[in-house]
Amino acid sequence: MSNSDLDPETNLSLVDGPVENPDITPTSKEAVELRPAKNWLSGTLSQKNLMALTGLFLCLFLVVHLLGNLQLLLPKEAAQWQFNFYSKLLSENIFIHLISYLLFATIVAHAVYALLITIRNRRAHGTRYEYDRRGVSSKWYSRKMGLLGTVILFFLIIHLRDFWYEVQFGHLPIDKDGQEDLYTLVVTVYRSGWYVLIYVLCMVALGYHLLHGFFSAARTLGVCHPRFVGWVRVIGWIYSVGISAGFALVPIYVHFALS
Ligand code: HEM
Repeated sequence: MSNSDLDPETNLSLVDGPVENPDITPTSKEAVELRPAKNWLSGTLSQKNLMALTGLFLCLFLVVHLLGNLQLLLPKEAAQWQFNFYSKLLSENIFIHLISYLLFATIVAHAVYALLITIRNRRAHGTRYEYDRRGVSSKWYSRKMGLLGTVILFFLIIHLRDFWYEVQFGHLPIDKDGQEDLYTLVVTVYRSGWYVLIYVLCMVALGYHLLHGFFSAARTLGVCHPRFVGWVRVIGWIYSVGISAGFALVPIYVHFALS
């Protein structure tokens, strides 16, 4: 078998039949036959599929959120007016409120399924490998998705406390056009160098999490056909690096140029 017949991420064969996802514990034929009929998540709607679908929805949210945040890179006056106007538009839109509920539900579902899959895999493999050879066939970040996800969850708790909670329950200043001044809140928060550093480190974790998540979702949803595997790889890298670098750039720029 030539090297081009192997998935560059996992070293799994792409030509000898369906590509196996290394995150899914192989299930014996007997176990499949004995699976209780009342198993509420089975077949195509497996936990892994739900992980992939919720993950892709979150990927879409990140693109929209990043585009909104990039307005902070405009010249100061324009950035303040535009960012506050944009936030006002979003907060007045009932459709955006509904999407927001869906978003929070998706984040919770994604985290819960991740936990369920981790527990299931631990039970299947035992807690530790006597002789761990997994590094031979997968990247470190593929094996540390739980850790990376926990870092992102930690980031989200701080992030939502500082921004979302303040918008919903705090008292924002008012800008000279009479709009709630979310821009000044963001600039004030990113004044702290420590905060920006932690933020940037969390974005590195986000980048690696997205990288593996993207490839894993593509395999789970069956788009990793040998013909497309190169494209999936390129798009995955561009997406993950673009999103994490874009989100890291905003606090760095605000810290050094605006505060
Ligand atoms: C440049 C970096 C970022 C900035 C300046 C930023 C800014 C904000 C602000 C101002 C809000 C409050 C919006 C509102 O309630 O009207 C918000 C909400 C939120 N942010 Fe970020 N954010 C950044 C990065 C991220 C990242 C990397 C994630 C996810 C990994 C994230 C996830 C969220 C979520 C889930 C919400 C709540 C959205 C909602 O209310 O529906 N943000 N962000």
